[in-house]
Amino acid sequence: MSRRPVNPARRFADGGSIPFIGSVQSKTRSSPVLSIGILVVGTILLIGYLHSGSGGSTGVKEALSKVEGGSSCTFEVQRALPVLKKAYGDSMHKVLHVGPDTCSVVSRLLKEDDTQAWGVEPYELDDVDASCKSLVHKGIVRVADIKFPLPYRAKSFSLVIVSDALDYLSPRYLNKTLPELARVSADGVIIFSGYPGQQRAKVSELSKFGRPAKLRSSTWWIKYFIQTKLEENEAAAKKFEQASTKRSYKPSCQVFHLQSLH
Ligand SMILES: *[C@@H]1O[C@H](CO)[C@@H](O)[C@H](O)[C@H]1NC(C)=O
Repeated sequence: MSRRPVNPARRFADGGSIPFIGSVQSKTRSSPVLSIGILVVGTILLIGYLHSGSGGSTGVKEALSKVEGGSSCTFEVQRALPVLKKAYGDSMHKVLHVGPDTCSVVSRLLKEDDTQAWGVEPYELDDVDASCKSLVHKGIVRVADIKFPLPYRAKSFSLVIVSDALDYLSPRYLNKTLPELARVSADGVIIFSGYPGQQRAKVSELSKFGRPAKLRSSTWWIKYFIQTKLEENEAAAKKFEQASTKRSYKPSCQVFHLQSLH
């Protein structure tokens, strides 16, 4: 529960879009008193911002609800990117992301050197910006129901990263979808899934996802992988763990590493 509100704050910190931090730095030399004043105000604003999950300004609420709107593990993929690159190295060159808000991940991946990226958006795309429309237009992002076979040949991608989407599938469909993800990948599948107890989609959005998210425990997932004979990619999991420790990265979603089907 306590993890979720931290995300939007990090999101803005990563994007460098907290304006007052910039102004503190630029005015440090000219006036220490002024900069301390700004720092105090900034700190108060920041604390207010962090606490506003339980009833703050509307802007912050909107940011939070956007994260709650079924895309928080999708956002986590972007946070995890440096760690994923460390753990997977060359396998990050040809990546398919599957999940809600895939345009955000694909755009982010395309900014990396030597990275080709594609996306599958499992739900309808509403209110998307021009850059997302352009990705769809170019065929880089496709809207496709992941309950059905994916429109890609075997091993089309080095890695497949899926976030949130599996939480909306019943075991019956998971049985079809997960092997599909393993089929179209060559070097592995990475699953970002919510922790039980985390609330995902807003009620108003449930129709989009078809059913409420079912957030399963890691025990459930591991048992499921064994039952369906999907093997965990232990080498990658270990490297991911090591890179996470080194960078003090704590995922706010469960992360599983599976082998591709050969
Ligand atoms: C999913 O596949 C596993 C392994 O093949 C099987 O034991 C299980 O019954 C299947 N689940 C459903 C709901 O079809």
